[in-house]
Amino acid sequence: MSESSIRTVAVIGCGIGRSHIAEGYWRHPDKFQVLALCDIDEGRLAKLGDEFSVRRRTKSFDEVLRMDDVDIVDICTPPTLHFAPILAALAAGKEVVCEKPIVGSLAEIDRVIAAEGRAAGRVMPIFQCRFGDGLQKAKRIIDTGIAGKPYLATVETAWKRTPTYYETPWRGRWETELGGVLLTHAIHAHDLMTYLMGPVASVFARKATRVNPIAVEDCAVASLVMESGALVSLAATLGSHKEISRLRCCFEHVTFESSHSPYRPHQRRLTALPMHWPLTASCRPGSKV
Ligand SMILES: NC(=O)c1ccc[n+]([C@@H]2O[C@H](COP(=O)([O-])OP(=O)(O)OC[C@H]3O[C@@H](n4cnc5c(N)ncnc54)[C@H](O)[C@@H]3O)[C@@H](O)[C@H]2O)c1
Repeated sequence: MSESSIRTVAVIGCGIGRSHIAEGYWRHPDKFQVLALCDIDEGRLAKLGDEFSVRRRTKSFDEVLRMDDVDIVDICTPPTLHFAPILAALAAGKEVVCEKPIVGSLAEIDRVIAAEGRAAGRVMPIFQCRFGDGLQKAKRIIDTGIAGKPYLATVETAWKRTPTYYETPWRGRWETELGGVLLTHAIHAHDLMTYLMGPVASVFARKATRVNPIAVEDCAVASLVMESGALVSLAATLGSHKEISRLRCCFEHVTFESSHSPYRPHQRRLTALPMHWPLTASCRPGSKV
């Protein structure tokens, strides 16, 4: 572990790993230093290393685990290459950041939680939408009790993916992607829904593959009952010509509606519409939270 207050990072996987550097570590040099990059693709390794002046580059994950001066291992590899590396990084005493989907089953997540309990490091899954300003304001209103009883929520993830997207070999296959629109794409909107509406009690769902010639699902609908008794309806497709994400959560005193921004519905202000009259000061018609 490094001795300074700056945390040192090794990024594993140079696809979305680039965004972790450009939008995260690189913008906070007082907190983080990217010390090493790891990828089996030498071209990607060289390009990203040159772009961000990271001199230490390796094709070996095991070599990263042996780097005593690396504090944080940031796993940005395809979905099936999350579970074993998380356990190995924890066992090596590292903090772990891991892209979604963190693992592929409840049994695996139980093992990650158990391993984290025994380790010095923590596991931090990437759910970047949780950190949006609009989302956090809605969460605060709910947690303080102002929103009241949760009634119902609807969540739409209507995105577009074409055959070009599936040229990346791990995409579209159960063995390598572990799932389709539910696990890879709508995971963010569905995570936001449970973040605001609470735990799920039961699910009935249907899925289909209708948009691209792939194995995993690219259309899905689901009907949920939450532990609170609230009802939730989910719809997700990768065949929408206009892309939107939309979250609408109806509570006793307020309805939250996200923007329709497909990839950043959490950042813009969520519109708060009052459900009942008279209005309270914190809940005026069309007020923004
Ligand atoms: N949070 C988000 O919004 C978001 C967005 C895109 C992707 N992701 C997730 O990030 C992960 C990676 O997706 P991507 O789009 O960057 O994929 P990608 O295929 O573009 O990049 C993955 C990289 O990992 C490298 N790699 C593969 N096996 C490796 C190994 N054994 N050791 C080291 N490197 C290895 C590949 O060479 C490749 O460069 C996926 O789990 C995906 O779901 C999350």
